Amino acid sequence: MKVLIATDKPFAKIAVDGIRQEIESAGFELVLLEKYTEKQQLLDAVADVDAIIIRSDIIDAEVIAAAKQLKIVVRAGAGYDNVDLVAATNAGVTVMNTPGQNANAVAELVFGLLVYAVRNFYNGTSGTELLGKKLGIHAYGNVGRNVARIAKGFGMKIYAFDAFCHVDIIKNDGVEPLFNVHKLYETCDIVSVHIPATPSTKKSINAALLELMPKGAILVNTARKEVVDEAELVQFMESHPDFKYVSDVMPDNHEEMIAKFPNRYFSTPKKMGAQTSEANINAGLAAAKQIVDFLVNGNQQFKVNN
Ligand code: 3PG
Repeated sequence: MKVLIATDKPFAKIAVDGIRQEIESAGFELVLLEKYTEKQQLLDAVADVDAIIIRSDIIDAEVIAAAKQLKIVVRAGAGYDNVDLVAATNAGVTVMNTPGQNANAVAELVFGLLVYAVRNFYNGTSGTELLGKKLGIHAYGNVGRNVARIAKGFGMKIYAFDAFCHVDIIKNDGVEPLFNVHKLYETCDIVSVHIPATPSTKKSINAALLELMPKGAILVNTARKEVVDEAELVQFMESHPDFKYVSDVMPDNHEEMIAKFPNRYFSTPKKMGAQTSEANINAGLAAAKQIVDFLVNGNQQFKVNN
C-alpha cells in the first residue's frame, strides 16, 4: 500500500518523520509531495496511491478521478471544506479529519492576533488590554474550547454561541452561553470566529451582524475567509472607523483592505494557526494512525462522508 503526504504547506520535519515511522512500520510505503505549485503535480502524485494525507490542499472530483486506487483521504486538521465529499463518496473513497489535534495551536494564535490588535499593531501608540473585556466565541468546538481556556488567563468575560453544542458543555467550562448569534455580537467587545465554511455559513458574518457590536469592537477570524461577507465588511469598516479586523485567513480583497484600513486590519500572509511543530505532530500522526487502522482493520472512526 502506498500513502502520499500532499501538503502545499509542509509539516515540520519531525512530524513527517513520525508519519513515516507509523506508515513504514505497518509495512506501507510513504511518498511526499510538498510545496507543489501546479495542480498537475498533485494529479500525477495521486495516480497510484491508496491513501492521502492533506492539510488545506484541494481534493476535488478531478483529483479523486485521477487517483484510481484511492481508498482514503485524511485531512490532518479540522475543516474538510477542501475535499469534494460527494465525489469521494461516489468513488467509494473514505474521508476523515483529525478533530482537535491542532486546536490549541489555532487558539493560541487567536490571542497573538488579539494582543497585536489591541496594542494598535505595535505602532507605539497607547492601546488597550484584554483584561475584563467581553469575548464572544462564535462556535464552541475544539478551537472554541481552547480559546475559552486561554481567555480565562487573560481575565476576560467569556461568552459563547453554538447552535449545536449543548449549553451544559459551555456552562461547565465557566463560559456564559448565549442563545442566538445576534446576542453574541451585541454583547461582546471581541468576537472570535470558529464556524466551519458550509453553504449555510458562507457570508453569514455580514454588516447586519457587525452593526450589533459595541464601539471599538474587534473581529478575529481564524476559521475560514468564506464565512465573512467581504464586500459588506469593507462597507462596514468605512462607516465604523473604530472597528478592527484581524485574520489568519487572508480575504480575497486583502489588497483593498490593506489600502483602506492600514491601522485596523491585519492578515497573516499564509494561514498560520495550525503551523506549529506540536500541531503538525498531533494532526499528522493521528492521520497516519487513522490510515493504518482503516487499511488494516477497517476502522471508520472520524469518517466525515457517507
Ligand atoms: C484546520 O481546519 O485544521 C485549520 O484551518 C488548519 O489548516 P491547515 O492545516 O491548512 O493549516
